[in-house]
Amino acid sequence: MDPLPEKIVCIGAGYVGGPTMAVIAERCPTVEVTVLDQDAVRIAAWNSGHLPVFEPGLAEIVGRARGRNLRFVEQQAGLAALAEADVVFISVQTPTKTEGEGAGKASDLRYVEACARFIAEHARGHTIVVEKSTMPVRAAERIQQVLASNRTGATFTVLSNPEFLAEGTAIRDLLQPDRVLIGGEDAAAVATLQALYAAWVPSERILTTGLWSAELSKLAANAFLAQRVSSINSLSALCERTGAEIAEVSAVVGTDSRIGPKFLKASVGFGGSCFRKDLLSLVYLCEHHGLPEVAAYWQQVVDLNEWQKSRFAAEVAAAAKNRRIAVLGLAFKKDTNDFRESAALQVVRSLLRSGCEVLAYDPQVDGARFISELGISAGFTAVSTARQALAGAGAVAVLTEWDEFRTLTWGEAALAPGATVVDGRGIVDRAAVRQAGRGLRVIGSPPA
Ligand code: NAD
Ligand code: UGA
Repeated sequence: MDPLPEKIVCIGAGYVGGPTMAVIAERCPTVEVTVLDQDAVRIAAWNSGHLPVFEPGLAEIVGRARGRNLRFVEQQAGLAALAEADVVFISVQTPTKTEGEGAGKASDLRYVEACARFIAEHARGHTIVVEKSTMPVRAAERIQQVLASNRTGATFTVLSNPEFLAEGTAIRDLLQPDRVLIGGEDAAAVATLQALYAAWVPSERILTTGLWSAELSKLAANAFLAQRVSSINSLSALCERTGAEIAEVSAVVGTDSRIGPKFLKASVGFGGSCFRKDLLSLVYLCEHHGLPEVAAYWQQVVDLNEWQKSRFAAEVAAAAKNRRIAVLGLAFKKDTNDFRESAALQVVRSLLRSGCEVLAYDPQVDGARFISELGISAGFTAVSTARQALAGAGAVAVLTEWDEFRTLTWGEAALAPGATVVDGRGIVDRAAVRQAGRGLRVIGSPPA
C-alpha cells in the first residue's frame, strides 16, 4: 500500500468540502488537512460551535479533528498550506450558467477556474489536483490548461474524484460509501488518493476509471436517481386519477431485485442544488455533441419535475378555505438546513403571487435566508413551531418529510374550519387528520 499523503488542502468549505475533509481528518489522524474558503463568515462558522452545515453526526466528527489535524482557514491565510500540500481538492460550486454560451444549461466553471489559477500561482513542487466538484465531462482538460500556465515551475496531475454523498446522510455516506471513484491516467497519483481512502474504505469499494469516465459517471448517477423520482412522480398523477395508491405501486415495483426499493418515493418534486443543474449539464453536453434525441430524453426528467411542483402549488391554492396557508418544511429534504432548489421556493412563490399569506415552519432552515432567496417578503412569515404555522390556516402544505410532521397532533391544531391538509410527501398520519375533521389530499393517492 502506498504511503498516505502528509498534507492536503481543500478549496471550498461548503456542504461537500466541510464534511468530506472532516471525515478524512478524523479517519487519517496523521494527515494534516486544511480547508480554505474565500467566505470569511463561513470559515468563522466552521471554527465556532454553530457549524454552517447541519448534518447528523457532523459536529461530533469536527469536534474530534478540529485543532488536531483539521483546520478551517480563510483563503489568503492558507497560502503556506497550499504551497506545501501534496494533494489539493477543488470543492467549489458548479452552478448552471446564467449568461454567455450555454446559459440556462451548461455548468458555470468560473469558480473552478479561479481555484485552478490560485493553485497555479501558489503550489510548489508536484501537486495532485483533485476535482471533487461535479464537472462536465472533459472539464479536467480546462483545469490542466490553467495549471500548465503557471510560471513557478510547479507540476501537476489532475484526478477526478466526484462525491456521491447525499445531504442529511452525509456522514454515514462518507464513512460507509457504496463506492469511492477515482478517475485518472497517472498511476502513482491514483495510488496516493487510493491510500487516503483505504484508511477506512474497503479496497473493493474504491473504483478506478479513466478521467472522462469518472466525470461522466457522476452526472450519470445523479441523472439516474433524478429519473427514478420523476418516473414515480409521473405515476403519482395517474394514481390520483385512477384510484391506485402510489405507495403500494412503489412497494410492488421495488420488490423486483432488478429495480430495488430505493428512490421510489413520490414527492412534491426533487430539489437540492445538484439534480437539476447536473441534468441540465448533461442535456447541454448532449446538445453540444450533436445528440438532440438524448438531450430531449434527459430534459424530460427536469420538465416533469417542474410540472409536479406547479401542480402541487395549484392543488394547495385550490384546497384553501381562506388565504392563509401553513407551509411545513422549507428544506429540500429532511435532516438538512439546505433549501437550494427546494420545492418550497417554487410552491411558496406561487402561493404568494396568487395573493395568499404564508406562515412557514422548518426545524433547521433559517427564515431570513429563505426570504432573501425567495425574493418576495410580503405575505411570508417564518415561525418557530409547527403549531404557530397551523393557527388559523385554511390549508396546510407538507413539503419536507421531517419526522416531527409524521406525529403532529392534528386534534390540537387550531386550523380554520374546513381546512385541508395537502401532503406532498405521503407522511402525515391520515387517520389522525380525518379524526380531527380535516380534509386531506395526499400526493399519489386518490381523493378520499
Ligand atoms: P457550496 O456552495 O456549499 O460550497 C462551495 C464553497 O466554495 C463556498 O463556501 C464558496 O465560498 C467557496 N468558493 C467558491 N469559489 C471559491 C474560490 N475561488 N476560492 C475559495 N473558495 C471558493 O457547494 P457544495 O454543495 O459543497 O457543492 C460543491 C460541489 O460539489 C458542486 O460541484 C456540487 O455539484 C458537488 N456536490 C455537491 C453535493 C451536495 O450534497 N451538496 C454532493 C455531491 C457533489
Ligand atoms: C443527491 C444524490 O443522492 C447524491 O448521491 C449526490 O452526491 C448529490 O445529489 C449531489 O450530487 O449533490 P441530495 O440531493 O443531497 O443527493 O439528496 P437526495 O437524497 O438524492 O434527494 C434529492 C431530492 O430528491 C430531494 O428533494 C428528495 O426529497 C427527493 N427524493 C428523493 C424524492 O422525492 N423521492 C425519493 O424517493 C428520493
